[in-house]
Amino acid sequence: MTGATRTTKRVFSGIQPSGGLHLGNYIGAIRNWVEEQDRYENIFCVVDQHAITVDYDPAQLRSHTRQTVGLYLACGLDPERCTIFVQSHVPEHTELAWLLNCVTPMGWLERMTQFKEKSAGGGERVSTGLFTYPVLMAADILLYQADGVPVGEDQKQHVELARDIAARFNRLFGDTFTVPEPWIRPVGARVMGFDDPSRKMSKSADGQYHSVALLDEPDQIRRTIMRAVTDSERDIVFNPERPGLFNLLTVFQALSGQSKQEIETHFAGQGYGHLKRELADLVIAALEPIQARYRDITADPARIDQLLARSVARLRPIVDDTMARVRVAMGHR
Ligand code: TRP
Repeated sequence: MTGATRTTKRVFSGIQPSGGLHLGNYIGAIRNWVEEQDRYENIFCVVDQHAITVDYDPAQLRSHTRQTVGLYLACGLDPERCTIFVQSHVPEHTELAWLLNCVTPMGWLERMTQFKEKSAGGGERVSTGLFTYPVLMAADILLYQADGVPVGEDQKQHVELARDIAARFNRLFGDTFTVPEPWIRPVGARVMGFDDPSRKMSKSADGQYHSVALLDEPDQIRRTIMRAVTDSERDIVFNPERPGLFNLLTVFQALSGQSKQEIETHFAGQGYGHLKRELADLVIAALEPIQARYRDITADPARIDQLLARSVARLRPIVDDTMARVRVAMGHR
């Protein structure tokens, strides 16, 4: 069944287990998935095959993959309403990626800004996988005939590429794929590094005070936020030209649910130290229940294994249906 005949829209998204999940993943992505899980048919992936496109450590990948699944659940994704799975557990992602490689013009990949940034000056550390990464991402999305792909602004170009690949495939081989749409949330979609507000918060960035991980201890959270880079001005207002302050206020807004106006009034006449202390309290309070649920969920390791096995079984009919049609369309059957 493709998107045209479905009544409930199907959503697909994923996060790389390339490090511990952080506040940016929660505010920019997972929290929205949780809020909207009743509206859609949801498939959320831990994309462990994307995580090997750059240098990595296998033991760490293994543990971060499980941790990410546990955190999806701890953040409130309900396994009854969402299918949560690990990319490498469904081998058809890589099979489809190869097939799509052969219908994707190289020029389309050469235009990807993320590849240009990540590969600059990398020499032999730049793998072919890093170059074709967006094709694997297209395979993730198209395999499930997803209608919507909720992602951050930085992934919009990749989802548009998936659209273009779907349309080209349908034109060359007959109608096979749902053409997906990127869904970008405006508020809090982009949390920046606390040590460098010009860079998006990232799991792989080094620097002890770059991000707040969802499993950080309260002391560490407080230290990171108190050290956050700001500027030498005084008044506390939402001004994108003051990126350090703007980022702190964006996180405050996302977690407090207050309006910009309310927040500016609340902090009027106060200094940055005051804002940072209140923000640290807010972040610690927001993460506390997530951390408690995470401890509870991971107390029984078999629980995650069972959930992941059940997810693969649930996805199987969709995967088999898409792949059967692709193989016939392309002349392999
Ligand atoms: N490339 C995405 C990121 O780094 C992760 C990802 C992989 C993804 N496959 C996906 C996101 C499919 C949405 C849909 O954030």
